[in-house]
Amino acid sequence: MIRITKLKTGIGAVAILFIVLVAVGFKIYRDKLYVNLPDYPPINRAAWLDQNWSQQQREWFHHADQGTQTVNIPYEWFVALEQPRLALVGDVGRLSDPSYLDRFGFIPGATKGGENQLPVGFARGGPMSKWDGTSWVNPQTNDPMTSLGFTCAACHTGRLTYKHVTLLIDGGPALTDLGKFRQALGISVLFTRFVPGRFDRFAKNVLGEDAGDDAKKALRDQLAGVWNGFFNVVRKLDQGIADASVDEGYGRLDALNRIGNQVFGVDLGKEGQEKNYSPTNAPVNFPHIWNASWFDWVQYNASIEQPMVRNAGEALGVSALVDLTDASKGLFKSGVQVSIIDEIEKQLAGKQATAENGFSGLKPPKDKESGFTGLKSPKWPENILGPIDRALAAKGATLYDNLCKDCHLPPVDTREFWQSKNWLPANEFGQRFLHVEVILITKIGTDPVHAEGMAKRKVWVPTDLNISTNDFGFALGQLVEKTTNHWYDSQTPPVSEDKRNEMNGYRPNGIQAPLGYKARPLNGVWATPPYLHNGSVPNLYALLSPVSERPKSFYLGRREFDPFCVGYQLRTKVPGPDKPDLRCLGDQSSSADDAFEGGFELKTAILGNRNTGHEFNDGSSAGVIGRKLSVDERLSLIEFLKTQ
Ligand code: HEC
Ligand code: HEC
Repeated sequence: MIRITKLKTGIGAVAILFIVLVAVGFKIYRDKLYVNLPDYPPINRAAWLDQNWSQQQREWFHHADQGTQTVNIPYEWFVALEQPRLALVGDVGRLSDPSYLDRFGFIPGATKGGENQLPVGFARGGPMSKWDGTSWVNPQTNDPMTSLGFTCAACHTGRLTYKHVTLLIDGGPALTDLGKFRQALGISVLFTRFVPGRFDRFAKNVLGEDAGDDAKKALRDQLAGVWNGFFNVVRKLDQGIADASVDEGYGRLDALNRIGNQVFGVDLGKEGQEKNYSPTNAPVNFPHIWNASWFDWVQYNASIEQPMVRNAGEALGVSALVDLTDASKGLFKSGVQVSIIDEIEKQLAGKQATAENGFSGLKPPKDKESGFTGLKSPKWPENILGPIDRALAAKGATLYDNLCKDCHLPPVDTREFWQSKNWLPANEFGQRFLHVEVILITKIGTDPVHAEGMAKRKVWVPTDLNISTNDFGFALGQLVEKTTNHWYDSQTPPVSEDKRNEMNGYRPNGIQAPLGYKARPLNGVWATPPYLHNGSVPNLYALLSPVSERPKSFYLGRREFDPFCVGYQLRTKVPGPDKPDLRCLGDQSSSADDAFEGGFELKTAILGNRNTGHEFNDGSSAGVIGRKLSVDERLSLIEFLKTQ
């Protein structure tokens, strides 16, 4: 009797233990190993808006290799990995399946010869290098493996959907969630190592059907090496800063701090990782980049003057290899494809508006639409998003003249814009750039963390890099300049002084860290939600409303456009235009009223996410830059911005 009871208790205990283990396992899976992604409704057709680029230019921009190895594994692995999901039966599908990557926000690439290309922004490069400079090889065939990284288009291509039509916008803000993508990639690698059956399928795809045991073993070691050498190192570093960081979510990235962490943290080895890895607490909305080539300073905080330093710095940020630690191999030797970056910048910039094409300051450029001849801002497609009310827009134009032009300059399609004194006099190379006003935070009142963070950040730099400052921005500027100079010097023959000036965009390597944000011309801004540098305001209507009326929290990740509020739809079912407040501002409560499964809830109470400032309201409190606008005035201004 007693024995049987004991046995029963024993079985019971084992059963309970088993259930607990499964439950704990499931919880870990749900919390740490499960990538929750939105499902999007099907699309009937896609329309790329006309932005002055040929189809050929566009496709080149989408996949041009700037020398990055962002995914940190070779292309051949990337396409062989399975999705980071567990399934009891059936196939979980490949990670690289375009419809799966689509849910992270990556836009499916064009098909070529019936085959799906990688999504927009993914670039295949040359042989993939290891940290020690040697090439990765396929252990079965000994062939070099191919590198895979992001190019500009990954972060600078916009997408909006409207009633089953997709609008694609070159140079617009991406709506990707790179954090989720990193997480998915890491878990895929982990599962390939530990989930039964996965490694064998992976090996078959990478090595071929009849790979030998030695090759498989070598591949297993490579996989473990990548996990321990990169993924886990970065995972732990990120864990260390997680509490002080602000989640980025869809459409945002703390690019400057991340570049700093990559270059002065990861790339500088252990000491850099310990001393320089900083919280990523200043996420910004991917900016739109049409016309930016002609601004005197770029970045939201107007911190960088030279396009080559900006772009090459970005390439280092998304893991182009650079040698910063081993002088025997040549410090500043890098994988950055400087000549391709130069070509990308030229496609974006077009030709400088010069006297020959009418830019005399007396009349607008010959090209009536605007004198910008590179990538142009998209025009509101009335056939898709509905007609513009011209009378209302005309009222808005007058308001713009009175309330906005002092900071955002006259509209770019006017003579006044091209005659503006903001076009600086020609520099020593005969080039003219557009001075964009920087408005101090004390006046504009928007979230301060981005600008203040860059001004305050310090980095430790080893003396042999010969960098004269430990102010982050300036140190980064010097480091990137040394990297591009290394490339110029190591070409045969070395790049001439004239050519260097041209590739540097005829601008010095100026760096500054003002405590303010720049006000740019607003052409095409209708296509670039969410608004403000940190993406804290979902639509133009909310931006023109008092701060107390703006949504305190909303979801990023919805793609459906609202042509009335001009921004992403706030909820799945939108109220009619007769209720502008409810439709564009939400329900005003402190949590978003209509959850979007798998999306990202942006809570504006968090420092870094604040939606304050740039306010049109009564009184003169901080951040108020103009008088309160009536509903009708807000709608007229929006209608006017649709014409820009
Ligand atoms: C991983 C994402 C990512 C990639 C890849 C990327 N960018 Fe950016 N880019 C950003 C973010 C985020 C910012 C805003 C940074 C800031 O202001 O702090 C930015 C800023 C810019 C700006 C300044 C815009 C302005 O209004 O001041 C330009 C121009 C630009 N990028 C061009 C490029 C080009 C050209 C490439 C490729 C050579 C590129 N970017 C690659 C994310 C990216
Ligand atoms: C005092 C100068 C100033 C005035 C006046 C001003 N703005 Fe701005 N505007 C800015 C600055 C600075 C920013 C960038 C703020 C930030 O991102 O934190 C900005 C940002 C914006 C943005 C968001 C751009 C983006 O990429 O997210 C829009 C849209 C905009 N302004 C519209 C307007 C309109 C419409 C008016 C007139 C009704 C106006 N602004 C008046 C300075 C001004």
